[in-house]
Amino acid sequence: MAVDLLLGLQWGDEGKGKIVDVLTKDYDIIARFQGGPNAGHTLEFDGIKHVLRTIPSGIFHKTAMNVIGNGVVIDPVVFVKELEGLDQFDIDYKAKLIISRKAHLILPTHRLLDAASEASKGKAKIGSTLKGIGPTYMDKTGRNGIRVGDLELSDWKTKYRNLADKHEAMISFYNVDIQYDLQEMETEFFESVTRLKELTFIDSEEYLNQAIKAGKTILAEGAQGSLLDIDFGTYPFVTSSNTTAAGACTGLGIAPNKVKDVYGIFKAYTTRVGSGPFPTELFDEVGAEMAEVGREFGAVTGRPRRCGWLDLVALKYTCEVNGVTQLNMMKGDVLSGFDTLKVCTAYTYKGETITHLPYNIEPENVNPVYTEFPCWKEDLTKMRNVDQFPKELNDYIDFLEKELEIPIKIVSVGPDRTQTILR
Ligand code: GDP
Ligand code: IMO
Ligand code: MG
Repeated sequence: MAVDLLLGLQWGDEGKGKIVDVLTKDYDIIARFQGGPNAGHTLEFDGIKHVLRTIPSGIFHKTAMNVIGNGVVIDPVVFVKELEGLDQFDIDYKAKLIISRKAHLILPTHRLLDAASEASKGKAKIGSTLKGIGPTYMDKTGRNGIRVGDLELSDWKTKYRNLADKHEAMISFYNVDIQYDLQEMETEFFESVTRLKELTFIDSEEYLNQAIKAGKTILAEGAQGSLLDIDFGTYPFVTSSNTTAAGACTGLGIAPNKVKDVYGIFKAYTTRVGSGPFPTELFDEVGAEMAEVGREFGAVTGRPRRCGWLDLVALKYTCEVNGVTQLNMMKGDVLSGFDTLKVCTAYTYKGETITHLPYNIEPENVNPVYTEFPCWKEDLTKMRNVDQFPKELNDYIDFLEKELEIPIKIVSVGPDRTQTILR
């Protein structure tokens, strides 16, 4: 068995990019399995910060192959800009990055449809990143989408025109005021497609299964977080793909019995960007301090992330649906010096105490029940091994491991590659 999965257990931005980069030295292949440029995965090393959107987070290593799987949706315009961002770093992406023919393309009109849909929802909007993710997956499941492999066929532009014309009619149906110049967007799109076609397109499920047979090791990289999963997240305030472990199987063509470890990543507190329920959200100065110290602003949109305490009810649920075998705790350094830490261990829900996520997580229904801990005061960012950990941090980790019944194997104490401690 040669495939391990790495995915976020909260509402995204847990630090997946950083940990994939740290783990890449142990793998032959890094493969993204879902999502698109709504993701912003941050990596920091040698004093430089990189933000990846569609490209797997193993790209900065010389050895690993990077695969964009069939479950991913690709916007050629964003993708080409991402490639250009790599140019200055001497990365041979033509050799090290390959793309599934079955990945779907985000068209300019998908982005416009996203904007129109959100504008029509008013206060009920999802808070989408507006990258066209939802409309592209709708066309995929509606069996109307255009795939990367179509770009190798002669008639793809006819297919494109028909779909884009239909989208334009749909945009006018929404009857909202959005300004756009489609011709300009299309010029940029077609130029970007030409550049995209310089890369290698493959039947990635075949490639990956052959690699497994040859004994190669694969790390599947998730995007977004489990609470944004289309089935198990806080619907409808979710993204449009399966962000959970099963999504790696469908998003790469890997059978479940080939999966070994599932690394689940969580922050020592919780954040969320966009709309939707968030039971442990803080609206006071403690939440504001988490946001400030943790620099909680979206890597893609720059939007402020909402902050709150760790929610063990939600975390137990996402560990369960993913079959997590190892946990990685991120950003404990952000909490240093807080007076008290709180962890939500149950909810009161319609007068009862419950320890599972209810179907309807409206703020008026759900109130967190907290267990409190004294917080560590020491600066964790300079620590490089567990022996340096303060007692309060060890107690916090021990408590979480006992509650979740899964070992916390990595503790991250800063954004840099080197600020990563194995337990
Ligand atoms: P991803 O989408 O899961 O890859 O996460 P993002 O990159 O969007 O957001 C995580 C942010 O936290 C990035 O700015 C990282 O550089 C930063 N980060 C990751 N791990 C740590 C950590 O342990 N401590 C601190 N302070 N920052 C971290
Ligand atoms: P990474 O991979 C955090 C959120 C959006 C919005 C909802 C739907 O960096 O963890 P979409 O653009 O998919 O229509 O947005 O999902 N969202 C994310 N939040 N991290 C992400 O990705 C996200 N990708 C989407 O804010 O609430
Ligand atoms: Mg992110």
